[in-house]
Amino acid sequence: MINNQSRTVFSPKKKIPVTILGATGVVGQRFLRRIADHPWFYPAFLAASDRSAGKKYAEACQWHLPGLPYAGCAGTVVVPCSPEAAFSPIVFSALDAGPAREIEPLFAAAGAYVFSNASAFRMDEDVPLLIPELNPEHFGLLSVQQAKRGWPGAIVTNPNCTTVMLASPLAALQSRFGLDAVLVTSMQAISGAGYPGVAALDIVGNVVPFIRNEEPKVESESNKILGELVQSGSAASVVPAPFVVSATCTRVPVIDGHTLSISVRLKTKASLGEVAEAFRAFEAKTARYGLPSAPSQFLTLLDAEDRPQARKDVEEDGGMRISVGRLRACPILDFKFVSLGHNTERGAAGASVLNAEMALAMGMLHGIV
Ligand SMILES: NC(=O)c1ccc[n+]([C@@H]2O[C@H](COP(=O)([O-])OP(=O)(O)OC[C@H]3O[C@@H](n4cnc5c(N)ncnc54)[C@H](OP(=O)(O)O)[C@@H]3O)[C@@H](O)[C@H]2O)c1
Repeated sequence: MINNQSRTVFSPKKKIPVTILGATGVVGQRFLRRIADHPWFYPAFLAASDRSAGKKYAEACQWHLPGLPYAGCAGTVVVPCSPEAAFSPIVFSALDAGPAREIEPLFAAAGAYVFSNASAFRMDEDVPLLIPELNPEHFGLLSVQQAKRGWPGAIVTNPNCTTVMLASPLAALQSRFGLDAVLVTSMQAISGAGYPGVAALDIVGNVVPFIRNEEPKVESESNKILGELVQSGSAASVVPAPFVVSATCTRVPVIDGHTLSISVRLKTKASLGEVAEAFRAFEAKTARYGLPSAPSQFLTLLDAEDRPQARKDVEEDGGMRISVGRLRACPILDFKFVSLGHNTERGAAGASVLNAEMALAMGMLHGIV
């Protein structure tokens, strides 16, 4: 699952203890599976709600993943989501937005670096919204956040599970041609709704053309991610990229993998071949760090006329690859294509772990190594 082939140019002298908040949920389990098998980290605390605290992990959690059940932690006692009970210098959060808003700041105030999947702080102007292949310079917001909030720790977020499949191919186009307008329709997997999620009677043999609170995130997060970090003295802020996004988000009967149909209008004219070349030549900013969770290929343009497909392509590179295909001219905007990625890995647990690896490799987490 983790890409051990990568060249590792940074490695901590000993493994770093980490806490998983929301460890019993769909994303929390993926965190645990990654961390249990990680060369830099080990799971020190599994934390969840009061419903689960005090129980053994196997009793508190309905395990959904293939491989070693409970990632070998069946007997670990789940603890409450408080720094008193579960402090580690690095914290991965798979909490829902409501509890995240209350709990994550407590850990940051106690000195932890919190890598969060929740939407609670993503759009706060002093909080990095990171896809490390695209905008690692936004880690520059950490010192601003710490100064403003008086925290020795900080919060770093990764995008909504749909945004990552959108912002990644858009980055390749934005950097070459500039972007003017984006139309996107998502076909989102069931696992994106957590567990038990959407009732079988609602989703089997059906498409649900509404996901609560999803479209505003998809219509705004890419602009922040592809925005420019502007530094002025000790202050820094992100100026959002100025293109407009219109999104329709739907739920489809797929277990894992969000598929997006995307049309774009570019700022400057380009040929189909130039757009294909922009995707193919796109270089991830993680490339030189050899991070354990980084995919061998970040963005892949598939030539087959019927790819990418969730069932065939979503597990590539441990679920960390973004697959793009069906690139063609759009008679209304300029070009259209399909983008696919793993919503609970690339869009959640894997994304957070990669953020933490990149932050460590760039020396952004003071006092940890
Ligand atoms: N699923 C995806 O594809 C995806 C992708 C990107 C981001 N996300 C985000 O990741 C987060 C988790 O999603 P999920 O799908 O894993 O949800 P989930 O399966 O419902 O899991 C939620 C987790 O949060 C815990 N929790 C709930 N209320 C709590 C409280 N008041 N205090 C402490 N812990 C509490 C639960 O513990 P108990 O078991 O004890 O109730 C459980 O461990 C959400 O913010 C979601 O938006 C999800």
